[in-house]
Amino acid sequence: MLTYKNNDPYIEGTSLYDLVKVCQTPFYVYSQQKIIDQVNKTKEILGNNIFYSIKSNSNQAILKLMNSLNIGADVVSVGELKRALEAGFDPNKIIFEGVGKSDQDLLYAIHKNIRLINTESLEEIKLLDNLANEKNKIVDIGVRLNPDVDGETLSKISTGKKTDKFGIEFDNIDKIIKLVKSCKSLNLIGISCHIGSQISKNEAYRNTFSQMKMAADKFIESGINIKHVDLGGGFHVKYEDSDPDFNIKKVKEELDNCFTQTNYELSFEPGRYLIAEAGVTVTSILTIKNNGGINYLIVDAGMNTLIRPAMYGAHHEISAINVNSEEFMDYAIAGPICESSDVFLKNIKLAKQKIGNLLVIKNTGAYGKVMSSNYNSRPLPSEILVHNDNYAIIYSPEKIEKTIEADIIPSWL
Ligand code: LLP
Repeated sequence: MLTYKNNDPYIEGTSLYDLVKVCQTPFYVYSQQKIIDQVNKTKEILGNNIFYSIKSNSNQAILKLMNSLNIGADVVSVGELKRALEAGFDPNKIIFEGVGKSDQDLLYAIHKNIRLINTESLEEIKLLDNLANEKNKIVDIGVRLNPDVDGETLSKISTGKKTDKFGIEFDNIDKIIKLVKSCKSLNLIGISCHIGSQISKNEAYRNTFSQMKMAADKFIESGINIKHVDLGGGFHVKYEDSDPDFNIKKVKEELDNCFTQTNYELSFEPGRYLIAEAGVTVTSILTIKNNGGINYLIVDAGMNTLIRPAMYGAHHEISAINVNSEEFMDYAIAGPICESSDVFLKNIKLAKQKIGNLLVIKNTGAYGKVMSSNYNSRPLPSEILVHNDNYAIIYSPEKIEKTIEADIIPSWL
């Protein structure tokens, strides 16, 4: 995402040095063009039924951009549903998923007449039928199935195995059919699945697609008119050179092989694939020290800014912006948080660094800012959207004083 003009770093037509003048590090920067290109590429290959999984990056500006690209939204909470509606998504292009939804969540979704509520348990189907009945509505629903396919990804982001908490087991399809037939206020028109994130193997896609086709056919045979087959998200993004190559065209080939001569409307819910590579995190070096022979660069971004390395052992490449030396050193790059897991990278070779220099953490457009926190009472990171030589701060964190104000001291203290 970074390019250089006369040795100065640029994102599109905007100098990173200009951004640092107006925004305190650490912050996230997104390239609008890169998002547009990636969405268009995905639509060209997989078709128009793309529902952006907004959990990956739900800034209102990003949502407005995604909506302008004519894709739908996949939401997993009332908060996300409100965000999608506020950004202008047509309710008919919003899918509501999630393994746990309250009565209020379901009532809100019923009220907003969204495209589909995807249910994840037999109990939830019963509850939704009762709520729809109370409101005198017939509600279109989907069921999320658990296809029992191992996505062979990090265990913490795998969701498609039988023992995972997501979806309803295939063995229970007969029970779903019987239950749905008894529900007066529900119209089952879709099935969905999502076997996990960072799925690179064709075989995992092939197995998932064939399981889902079998399931859809089974519903049809039983007289339930399934129209939509939603095949989830999870497309792989390359974070480091040793990551496997992933080609979305192969997914399309598997899809065509599996769903020939069917009339199902096929859809996908990618998050990461649409936005991860369009974002970076900019951070400054606070201090430099050598502990036990390790050269630490302590930066102002920490696990509170970007939790993926600490939480999943995820790898994000980091590059140095200021190269003031010909000498190269081995560094460990760590955040300021009081946790030993607050380390981004170990054993990285960079030109010798100075306090105040800038580093850029790459591919952080997805599951970056959305997973940030106030831990250690540090502010959330700002976000900037770049569009050619224009930029806008699209998230400005509240001052710590405001956060303190939200705490309530009981009368007896
Ligand atoms: N659909 C459903 C039902 C999902 O649960 C998810 C992600 C997606 C679609 C989008 O998956 P994607 O295309 O972004 O892989 N925080 C983790 C990722 C958790 C993903 C949760 N569900 C990370 O930072 O890697």
